[in-house]
Amino acid sequence: MKTREVLILQGDGIGPEVCHEAKKVLEHINDTKDLGITISESAVGGCAFEEFGSPLPEKTLKLAQRSDAILLGAVGGPSWDNLDYDLRPERALLGLRSELDLFANLRPAILSKYLSDSSSLKPEKVLDLDMLIVRELTGGIYFGEPRGRSDTNESAFNTMVYSKNEIERIGRVAFEAAQKRNKKLCSVDKANVLEVSVLWREVISDLANEYPDVHLSHMLVDNAAMQLVREPKQFDVIVTGNLFGDILSDIAAMLTGSIGMLPSASLNSKNQGLYEPVHGSAPDIAGKGLANPIAAILSVAMMLKYSFSLNEASSDIEGAIQEVLSAGYITHDLEGNNNKKLSTSEMGNKIIEKLI
Ligand code: IPM
Ligand code: MN
Repeated sequence: MKTREVLILQGDGIGPEVCHEAKKVLEHINDTKDLGITISESAVGGCAFEEFGSPLPEKTLKLAQRSDAILLGAVGGPSWDNLDYDLRPERALLGLRSELDLFANLRPAILSKYLSDSSSLKPEKVLDLDMLIVRELTGGIYFGEPRGRSDTNESAFNTMVYSKNEIERIGRVAFEAAQKRNKKLCSVDKANVLEVSVLWREVISDLANEYPDVHLSHMLVDNAAMQLVREPKQFDVIVTGNLFGDILSDIAAMLTGSIGMLPSASLNSKNQGLYEPVHGSAPDIAGKGLANPIAAILSVAMMLKYSFSLNEASSDIEGAIQEVLSAGYITHDLEGNNNKKLSTSEMGNKIIEKLI
């Protein structure tokens, strides 16, 4: 049987807690369905810096390069906020993204019908919300050169740069995703101000000729932020650059009740993938059993689907989560009147119970 190698990088803050639950679910489904998945683990982020002096130790990078899929918890925390740029925990995540060329970041925002009370918007505004943000992940202002400080240290600069190739390859991912969904794609940019966005719009518009079945629109990023909270259901797929995607995906996440619900996949052209919850390391609640493991568990579901084409196992996990929510079980980040609040590990166990 084909071996499927998964690397788990728990990271910092609530990363270990949510990964622990996600690993339990992955092991469970691997055993019951005999999926041939092998799991290894390694250190990443602030804790890796403490132990090895680097947020992305060589050993972790090597293991990551060899793996078919990676599950990452979260990185960062106040203890490492004052470290030099290259040693900050976030560099590990950015390093993995760029070393593995994980340019396509898929961030679905789906509201479970059992959680419409948890959304920050009125229930009717978000009922049945199901959208996908396709964020370019290895370019733009996150990686553009030059960056740095002026000689006198009186100013600092980053560069927002995109090549036609980079725009085209993320554009294709988005058009193809839209083809499999409701065939609506909204490209978000700042073409009224930024030259890089003018090029972005040109390339995406040209690509549209190859996908005549997809309806393409363009929106400026400030308007898109407003439209997401005004009428989120107008969107099917959004495609955008690295920085705008970072911001818009946090907004979209909150529409679904809690950022603790949203998974993500970052893929390269070889279908290697890094899967992680959209939430961060939440150091304020770390170690208290308050974290919601659903985003990490849904990240495992995305892994099974995108890296291993195990669609049935993936839907089983999603189904089990919906069953748990429909029975009124939630975690501390979610709101609801008659709900039963579970700890991180109780939620993991409940989901596994429904998988049996
Ligand atoms: C995310 C995070 C990262 C990003 C940070 C931790 C580097 O916010 O994945 O959205 O900005 O991309
Ligand atoms: Mn972010």
